Amino acid sequence: MKLSAYRIATNTLRTTRILSVKTESPTVRTFTFKDRQCANAKPGQFLMLWIPGVDEIPLSILDAKENGIISVAIKKVGEATQALHNKKVGEIIGIRGPFGNSFTLKEGRILMVSGGTGTAPMLFLSKKLASRVTRLISVIGAKTRDELLFMNGMKKTVDKEKTQIIATTEDGSYGIKGLATTPVERLLEKEKFDMIYTCGPEQMMRKVFDLAEKYGVALEASLERLMRCAVGLCGSCVIGGYCVCKEGPVFTAEQLREVKNEFGVSKRDFDGRKIPLE
Ligand SMILES: Cc1cc2nc3c(=O)[nH]c(=O)nc-3n(C[C@H](O)[C@H](O)[C@H](O)COP(=O)(O)OP(=O)(O)OC[C@H]3O[C@@H](n4cnc5c(N)ncnc54)[C@H](O)[C@@H]3O)c2cc1C
Ligand code: FES
Repeated sequence: MKLSAYRIATNTLRTTRILSVKTESPTVRTFTFKDRQCANAKPGQFLMLWIPGVDEIPLSILDAKENGIISVAIKKVGEATQALHNKKVGEIIGIRGPFGNSFTLKEGRILMVSGGTGTAPMLFLSKKLASRVTRLISVIGAKTRDELLFMNGMKKTVDKEKTQIIATTEDGSYGIKGLATTPVERLLEKEKFDMIYTCGPEQMMRKVFDLAEKYGVALEASLERLMRCAVGLCGSCVIGGYCVCKEGPVFTAEQLREVKNEFGVSKRDFDGRKIPLE
């Protein structure tokens, strides 16, 4: 398929039926469905999921199999995600995508730092990295034990001897008490890493970025901004001179240095106004 035809096909809405729904935590459910266009999606890419009569929202791809079985993990936070949580197997949803770039697949010693549903693309990435890594440390953060996501999935993707999972909870109900960033500085003091991958709340990623700069480690971060069109037209996702939907959502440390004044500090609302990050 020519590039322009591929782009049109990617941005064309397809309808499909929900194949399964799995409860991951009190607020997060994983949905699977079939979509051929997303079959070759890469870790870091996202899709737009349309909930008929409600809204269309961006979601990271949690898994994409060659047979077109796609998964996304959805946290209930508002109207659209609540409507999705109410959906049952067999009900119709719409899909556009996959959109955006993806994480580069590095070899060697890898550190992943994720929070909340930011762990979804990290799990997908760890599957693709499994044969390349010599060491994988994954720091997974959540508010409480119940909200820690994909701990078992992450453990299973890479050889046991090469993997270490470190959980952090804000209330101390499991693992280290504190934020996902709490153990990161100690790890960077002790060990050398070839790459840090991070995804989750932007303030968390900013802290990880600052530490990566301090210790001189390469980093890639997947950013979440308000998204409407997903194809670089509406401008709601901009950070500095970048459209996150098109030139991201994965950014390198070099790119993040250029947008330091906004990264982890402010975002645009749907009217294009700069507002502080909550
Ligand atoms: C690239 C990308 C990947 C994402 N991946 C996931 C994921 O894997 N799992 C997941 O649960 N969530 C993910 N999100 C966030 C998800 O899109 C929002 O939680 C969802 O749009 C909220 O919709 P709502 O109607 O339920 O809530 P609302 O009440 O409308 O909004 C709640 C909050 O969600 C955010 N939000 C609302 N609309 C959008 C939008 N169109 N684009 C971005 N953020 C929005 C805002 O911060 C808002 O304050 C991702 C967002 C982006 C940009
Ligand atoms: S979401 Fe419209 S330009 Fe990125």
